[in-house]
Amino acid sequence: HKDELLALVRSVQPDDMVCAYVRQNRMLGLGHAVLCAEPLVGNEPFAVLLADDLMVGNTPIMQQMVQQFAHWRSSILAVQDVPREHTQRYGVVSGSVVNDGVVDVTGIVEKPAPDVAPSTLAVAGRYILTPGIFQELERIPRGVGGEIQLTDGIAQLLRHEKVFAYRYEGVRYDCGSKLGFLQATVDLGVQHPEVGHEFAQ
Ligand code: G1P
Repeated sequence: HKDELLALVRSVQPDDMVCAYVRQNRMLGLGHAVLCAEPLVGNEPFAVLLADDLMVGNTPIMQQMVQQFAHWRSSILAVQDVPREHTQRYGVVSGSVVNDGVVDVTGIVEKPAPDVAPSTLAVAGRYILTPGIFQELERIPRGVGGEIQLTDGIAQLLRHEKVFAYRYEGVRYDCGSKLGFLQATVDLGVQHPEVGHEFAQ
């Protein structure tokens, strides 16, 4: 009779949501992983959420991006400013500023060294992409690290379509690093309604 816990678990998945899974059998990178989902996605715009980037905002970050997509009807990349010495950890965009939060992207490179990075505007792990990305991912050669890079696919997509970078309002925790994982645990732990107070002590 752990009914409360059961209700909590069930509440995570709305009744009308269907979950389907695809396995990426080969370690060929993020772009290849996205390509594996093509049979499920079909010819529609879709969202990519990299689970090791934990994003927290008063308005959920993906909701902010969906609002941007509704306006621009083009691919939207979540971006944040990073210290120049960190560009090598990210996809980095260049482009022209449209307004406070939005950049019209003209270029994107994967993990550039600080001295050659086109800007310090780095892609966080949230994307809304048009289905045109699939054709690009099928064609591109392996990139950085010998992997099929989503970033390289987006660079090709730019030749045919508009892509916008959106400075989201919120905080990103890089839970793919030990430090980021610990920061997320502490920040969210002290805010937790049930255990926050004791955890802060
Ligand atoms: C991936 C992407 C990179 C992006 C990053 C965000 O890199 O390839 O463009 O900036 O996620 O977290 P990874 O962290 O998998 O090396």
